[in-house]
Amino acid sequence: MWWQLTVTLVIGLSCAVWSQDENAEPSLDIMARSTPYEVGETKAIFCKLINLEDGDWLNPAGDVVGTRSAKNKRIFVEKKKEVSGLLMPLIINKMEITDSGNWTCRSGDLAETIYILVGRKVVMKARETQYGNEGKTARFDCEPDGFPEPVVQWYKPDRQPIEEHDKKYVVHTKGRNRQLEIKNVNHMDTGEYVCKVTQKTLSHYTDKTVTFIVNHSPVIVNPETQEENTASTEEVFTLLDRVKNLTCNAVAYPLPDFKWTKHKNGYDYEEIKDDTVAYSEGGLTSVLQLRVFNESYLGQYKCTASNTHGHKFIIFDVRLGNKPNPPDVFAVVESNSSSISFNVTCSSCLLGRLDQGYSDPQNLAVTGYKIQLTMKPTEAKPDDWDAALTFSFDIEDVEDTIFTPTNLTSSSVFHARACSVNQAGESEWFYLEGDAVTSLGITQTPASIQHLYVIAAFLFSLYY
Ligand SMILES: *[C@@H]1O[C@H](CO)[C@@H](O)[C@H](O)[C@H]1NC(C)=O
Ligand SMILES: *[C@@H]1O[C@H](CO)[C@@H](O)[C@H](O)[C@H]1NC(C)=O
Ligand SMILES: *[C@@H]1O[C@H](CO)[C@@H](O)[C@H](O)[C@H]1NC(C)=O
Ligand SMILES: *[C@@H]1O[C@H](CO)[C@@H](O)[C@H](O)[C@H]1NC(C)=O
Ligand SMILES: *[C@@H]1O[C@H](CO)[C@@H](O)[C@H](O)[C@H]1NC(C)=O
Ligand SMILES: *[C@@H]1O[C@H](CO)[C@@H](O)[C@H](O)[C@H]1NC(C)=O
Repeated sequence: MWWQLTVTLVIGLSCAVWSQDENAEPSLDIMARSTPYEVGETKAIFCKLINLEDGDWLNPAGDVVGTRSAKNKRIFVEKKKEVSGLLMPLIINKMEITDSGNWTCRSGDLAETIYILVGRKVVMKARETQYGNEGKTARFDCEPDGFPEPVVQWYKPDRQPIEEHDKKYVVHTKGRNRQLEIKNVNHMDTGEYVCKVTQKTLSHYTDKTVTFIVNHSPVIVNPETQEENTASTEEVFTLLDRVKNLTCNAVAYPLPDFKWTKHKNGYDYEEIKDDTVAYSEGGLTSVLQLRVFNESYLGQYKCTASNTHGHKFIIFDVRLGNKPNPPDVFAVVESNSSSISFNVTCSSCLLGRLDQGYSDPQNLAVTGYKIQLTMKPTEAKPDDWDAALTFSFDIEDVEDTIFTPTNLTSSSVFHARACSVNQAGESEWFYLEGDAVTSLGITQTPASIQHLYVIAAFLFSLYY
């Protein structure tokens, strides 16, 4: 048995450290710290008696623990007389939770007590999936079985802890179970709920994740914010002879089917069924790429998202907008090795932020600019604008006319052009006079710094 080996080792140590002293004060010492043990472990807890004839271990009930016998097979005491004194290990085989308590080593008037805690770490199934229906109540169980009783906390999909009593959430205690109840379930409740379980005394942590999926009818959402779009109609402006993307975004479970129809005076009159309709990955977006050849393509387009629970629609009212004027100021303000700042503005345009919603179709606000940069050809060739880098900027503040393409290669010479952008489309291009250049990338490699020093030193020597 391993504890016999420990006994031998401890005795060996004792011999080396303590020299026998017949006149030493009688003493008694439990040679273990009060640490928690696991159910099922086997431990030997030593009590060392010096210049004392005999002693006993008392269990938490105060009864003397006997030596090993047919009756005492699991818990017993061994006594070993050694040169340094009497060693008295308390042996506990296959520890049980009920072994927890104060155990005392005693000899005459001398006694020392050790608190033994036998715990069981919580083990739980790590994951489960649950389905719920709109308007109903959902309940998730978290039943940690362990000792000492763990601390349990539920977390919402946004990782915020759930208060025990909330309008929407209630945590019920039913025996070991800390049951989370979610009332009046809707599509926003879809997500992962985590039950976190901690047993501080055992330094133990575990958790269980419930993936909750709410069956619900489609909800049309804003593609950017994913918030519900309650408007039934959306104005879309276009220019003629362009492709306009109409983006229809819905959340639904099961995944929705999308249908696009032309719509007029409250009626759907023609379903659009061709390869101009693109579905996004994940099945929650449908994009109608509308080719506006001429005015007969203007009008209303309805997107309907449906599943077994219901349907929702949104109508895109496609109207002609004005083509913006091109910028009339386009100049380099400053540059460094990786970026070039341009002063861009259109003094004849109404300027505005995208979210300010000006909608006079004849004078739509310019909400941003597009800047393209192409490498200046080395020979006498025309610029290759197909190979240009394109940067799109939204106007954040109409007073701020500086826009800065970044991430450019150093020591480069570019030709640049810019156009104004409004809700309908883009203006003609306005070309930069002269070149736009990035400087030498001196911070790129130590070698290039060395080159600079060499060149500087050379110029210096020429000067003198
Ligand atoms: C064990 O002893 C300590 C110290 O005397 C006491 O505070 C504690 O309540 C005792 N524990 C049990 C389970 O008897
Ligand atoms: C329209 O959508 C298609 C497919 O998603 C995309 O390739 C294209 O770049 C988009 N066009 C515009 C002008 O956004
Ligand atoms: C509009 O364009 C379509 C497709 O090019 C063409 O068939 C139709 O005749 C045009 N309609 C008008 C009013 O020009
Ligand atoms: C270059 O200028 C841009 C914009 O002014 C700045 O963000 C960037 O840190 C600068 N880069 C270097 C290498 O100085
Ligand atoms: C940008 O150009 C406008 C019009 O020429 C000028 O008034 C303004 O001072 C320029 N801004 C900067 C930062 O150079
Ligand atoms: C710059 O380019 C690198 C490599 O192409 C890319 O990883 C990084 O995201 C870019 N940074 C910005 C601000 O566009």
